[in-house]
Amino acid sequence: MVNTDDYFYAPVLPAGLQQEIVQYYHTYIKPVHNMMSLVSKNKNANGDVVTYFDVDKLNVDAYKSIKQKLPILSGGCLISDLNPGGSTLPHTDAGFDESVRKSALNFPIEGCTVDSPTVFYTNSGSTHYDEKTKTIFANDSNLLVKVAECYMINDPVLLNTKQWHSITNLGKTKRVVLSLSIKDGMSYYDAMEYFKWME
Ligand SMILES: [Fe+2]
Repeated sequence: MVNTDDYFYAPVLPAGLQQEIVQYYHTYIKPVHNMMSLVSKNKNANGDVVTYFDVDKLNVDAYKSIKQKLPILSGGCLISDLNPGGSTLPHTDAGFDESVRKSALNFPIEGCTVDSPTVFYTNSGSTHYDEKTKTIFANDSNLLVKVAECYMINDPVLLNTKQWHSITNLGKTKRVVLSLSIKDGMSYYDAMEYFKWME
């Protein structure tokens, strides 16, 4: 029996914090994402695009307020747009640097349904690093074994981004997710314990 806690955890955030973060996304992050999407190297012909930047560099007090309420956030901020029919290959996040983005707090922005889950795997095969997307991919997808599925519908989810995972959007609308990296060096399990302590 798989313990899904090894892959994802749905924290209960302080009242109003999710709304504050989503509002921050629409006001400050989305415009940067839209601009970066135009020149992103992590974009395919389907229009699926991932951007990543340091929110701290926006130097906006509103984000400082969010980080005061959630001090385990780093400034790392990933936005994923996945069009209908779009998918990612199974991968782990942030390349070989084991200290960076060990986990992330993901917020559904639009089109997040049971038709667009994050699927987790174990991998017994070899891997390679893709410089363009700064991501590690499996060499042989046949050696990946699906172990869990995470549905993010209305609420945020903490993901263990060093576990093998992929996303497929079988829905009819674009799937947009805001993914805030947890502080460098902090393990997924420590982040999970932090959220449990906060609840
Ligand atoms: Fe990922």
